[in-house]
Amino acid sequence: MAIKCIGVLTSGGDAPGMNAAIRAVTRTAIFNGYAVKGIMRGYHGLMTGEIKEFKSQSVSNIIQQGGTILKTARSKEFRTAEGRKIAYENMRKEGIDALVVIGGDGTLSGAQTFASEFDIPIVGLPGTIDNDLDGTDETIGYDTALNTIVDAVDKLRDTASSHERLFFVEVMGNTAGYLALNGAIASGAEAAIIPERETEVDQLAELIHNGFRKSKNSAIVLVAENPTTGGAMGLAERIKKEFPEFDARVTILGHLQRGGSPTAKDRILASKMGAMAIQALSEGQRNVMIGIKNGELVYVPFKRAISHSTHVDLSDLEIIKILSI
Ligand code: F6P
Repeated sequence: MAIKCIGVLTSGGDAPGMNAAIRAVTRTAIFNGYAVKGIMRGYHGLMTGEIKEFKSQSVSNIIQQGGTILKTARSKEFRTAEGRKIAYENMRKEGIDALVVIGGDGTLSGAQTFASEFDIPIVGLPGTIDNDLDGTDETIGYDTALNTIVDAVDKLRDTASSHERLFFVEVMGNTAGYLALNGAIASGAEAAIIPERETEVDQLAELIHNGFRKSKNSAIVLVAENPTTGGAMGLAERIKKEFPEFDARVTILGHLQRGGSPTAKDRILASKMGAMAIQALSEGQRNVMIGIKNGELVYVPFKRAISHSTHVDLSDLEIIKILSI
């Protein structure tokens, strides 16, 4: 069936650059003769019918804004077969023939299930600060979040060095250590504690026993939020009990990392991927995420994108160690 109308939605955790992606999808679709509908609140809006016709002006003046003008949600109902049936019926009612979904692994796995049950072409864009999707070197929002982390750690460094303290800075990342690892390299931190290594070693004990403060009296450690790492609070508790000679403090960056105006890099990534999503649908592609590999835009099957088979480069931990002597 020829596609006439494309629906666009954002789902899961918001990420800076999602608006730039919505803008690119909308305008490229209109340029190519498609009608566009904006679906509010992710899959939830598809079920409740919160859907608006989008014109070129609907996406004016948003490229610089963080968050998502389409709002977002994590829909429990869409995880049920009944919920997805209602969503499909609403799509038909609205005359939407294809979808562009922007979000992380939850969003793409929802799309994969939806597409397997109904005959709908869906293209995904990787929108998450976590950078935890396979088949793409970067996700939309990751660069902005990294820069936010670096700004925050630069500020914390003043107090850490003035008071000669050990700071545990907790960053997001869900099950992946990309933000902690690359945030640590970019901010010159002493260490990154990440879920990818937690089953192998006790990273805190290793850090202390390696004598991490050989040439200085303060230290900053980036910790990925994850039950396996214990989080920044858990590590500070352990310091109190096991290594009371250190004066440790905790800063949890939390949702600060998801906000703010997207960096130029994220705007460019989102704009190119958004345009490519429409090209993909025109070419008859379906059930693929747009990725970027070695500077080239590529199609990644949903199954691979959400496989979690690519991980952080653990040898980067050695770089952090060497650069902090
Ligand atoms: O997936 C993005 C993310 O920010 C994760 O890093 C984090 O674990 C999670 O979302 C937090 O979700 P919420 O905003 O629903 O608390």
